[in-house]
Amino acid sequence: MLRVEVLATPDMSEGREIRGTGVVIDVLRASSSIVQALSSGCQEVIPACTEEEAREIRDRYPGAIIAGERGGMRIEGFDLGNSPLEYSPASVAGKVVVMTTSNGTKAIIGASRAGAHPVLICSFLNLRAVARACAGRAQDVTIVCSGSHGEFSLEDFACAGALAAALVDMAGSASVVLEESAREAMDLFSKHDRDPEVIFEESQHGQYLKALGFAEDLKHCAKVDLLHVVPVYDGGVITTA
Ligand code: MLT
Repeated sequence: MLRVEVLATPDMSEGREIRGTGVVIDVLRASSSIVQALSSGCQEVIPACTEEEAREIRDRYPGAIIAGERGGMRIEGFDLGNSPLEYSPASVAGKVVVMTTSNGTKAIIGASRAGAHPVLICSFLNLRAVARACAGRAQDVTIVCSGSHGEFSLEDFACAGALAAALVDMAGSASVVLEESAREAMDLFSKHDRDPEVIFEESQHGQYLKALGFAEDLKHCAKVDLLHVVPVYDGGVITTA
């Protein structure tokens, strides 16, 4: 039996142990950007919690790209921001990308510290690929939503629901036990017509990004199963499974 639980914010993993597979979602936009970067052939993504830490790591990897955002905007002096559209083969293929974002990179590191193993990175872009990887491992799955500064994010929780639904579809309902949190996430996804664009329209962060001029990012992050990579965080770096 494969149990599926959803943590609505990363804080819910503090002070507890996560057993089995952890899946981190920050669909707008860190997890979508990481999936895009690896799909574009980047060698590895190294997540960092702070700007200073990201700079220190970059200095240890000659030729590495430094990327990330604060308040949604590229950090001054960084090579890339957090728009998945920036992570093209031309900019990242064969390169190490050191990344720090407001919530997503911290949630990835936090899930690993809480004991999740492996830690997979999910977005709508690679939903079924992650579901397949979870089903193949036949161990409990804890989906960690990155949220926003400790607060609930509609888009992450709905994406968690989409992943839970894909897992049931793949593993069969007789092999999956959905915790209440997973059922609620699936309901939320269904209430929004199972349509990421509808979800992003309603989400606060979606509206914020649109106001900043990132409407194209929303369209891109809404493409379900466009990509097939499964990013795995292990030993401080994210590579593909
Ligand atoms: C985050 O980590 O909070 C984000 O991905 C924010 C963003 O760039 O949209």
